[in-house]
Amino acid sequence: MKTEVYSAVSQKENGTRLGADLIRRGQIVAFPTETVYGLGANGLDPGAVGRIFEAKGRPNDNPLILHVARKSDVKALWTSIPPVARQLMDVFWPGPLTLVYFKSDIVPDEVTAGLPTVAVRCPRHKTALALIRAAGLPVAAPSANASGKPSPTTAQHVLEDMDGKIPLILDGGPCKIGVESTVLSLTGTPRILRPGGVTKEMIEAVIGEVQLSSAVLAKLDQSEKVESPGMKYRHYAPDAEVIVVKGEARAVANRIKSEYEHYESCGFSCTILATEQTKTFYHGKNYVIIGDRDEPETLCARLFSCLRRLSGSTDVILAEEQPAVGAGMAFMNRLLHAAGFKTLQA
Ligand code: TXA
Ligand code: MG
Repeated sequence: MKTEVYSAVSQKENGTRLGADLIRRGQIVAFPTETVYGLGANGLDPGAVGRIFEAKGRPNDNPLILHVARKSDVKALWTSIPPVARQLMDVFWPGPLTLVYFKSDIVPDEVTAGLPTVAVRCPRHKTALALIRAAGLPVAAPSANASGKPSPTTAQHVLEDMDGKIPLILDGGPCKIGVESTVLSLTGTPRILRPGGVTKEMIEAVIGEVQLSSAVLAKLDQSEKVESPGMKYRHYAPDAEVIVVKGEARAVANRIKSEYEHYESCGFSCTILATEQTKTFYHGKNYVIIGDRDEPETLCARLFSCLRRLSGSTDVILAEEQPAVGAGMAFMNRLLHAAGFKTLQA
């Protein structure tokens, strides 16, 4: 199969029309969202959904998110709309918040991996919304990476993983947020299953205190119940060993320097994920500046593209722990997953 890439700007109308047509015919189209690129297909068609799992090499017990263009579209997908969902949709939709609630009968088991619930979100991106609207159906879309790899934040990333496997990529340039949506379960006390573009603090400002799944910042124990199947798999992993060094900033920088020297003396190449504030510590060493420590949104925006760029070109990536507050929580969640939870204490 040949993979076409259409500009979401200069080929806007043609791209939307072709994309919607492909989706209605059961094919897969990659499209940009404000978080990461998605791999979209007809979310009500088990065959089309099956093609997504195949293209990604995704384990079929990991459910998908249905994407809608209007808030009212959720009505057909859930058994009802709980008041707390309405409150959140009014504030955060369209936007990077995915809500999980009990599914209606029209949602195929292939989408939910057999779960009684379905995840729904309304993305805040012109191209995504135009595509979903033109397709006229809920679009099932996981991140457009091959399973296990860092999520794609540019059309080029999608092409690296999906060339020859899907017919069309809509290129809308780099994604603004750079990490996926926040997944919030509303089947009981509201509970964050995956931190993302909408922070815990932002949600709590609207509906009061929410719970946080224990799998967000720590490795799941074998015996623990998996709330979101996606959390049990190695994720976002580049072709390099990622090590996160935890502790107070200055001690972290010193430990990273000594680890760097140790690995180099053993013949391994190393790269440090530095911030604007810490780059001077690493003078003379290989480092990339991922963002500003005081603006965790900048760290999120560049994490996946940094991991992809370094993949295969360095043996070891040494990363600094950042405070897991605000957008820093999503950043640390993705970084720890990329590291397979390999950490060192400074
Ligand atoms: O920002 C995003 O959410 C992107 C863009 C494309 O919209 N999509 C995305 O999809 O990240 P995916 O499939 O890569 O991640 C979906 C996550 C997985 O961790 C999955 O286990 C969880 O949502 N999930 C989906 N349905 C669920 C459900 N019914 N219950 C619990 N977790 C669910
Ligand atoms: Mg994903």
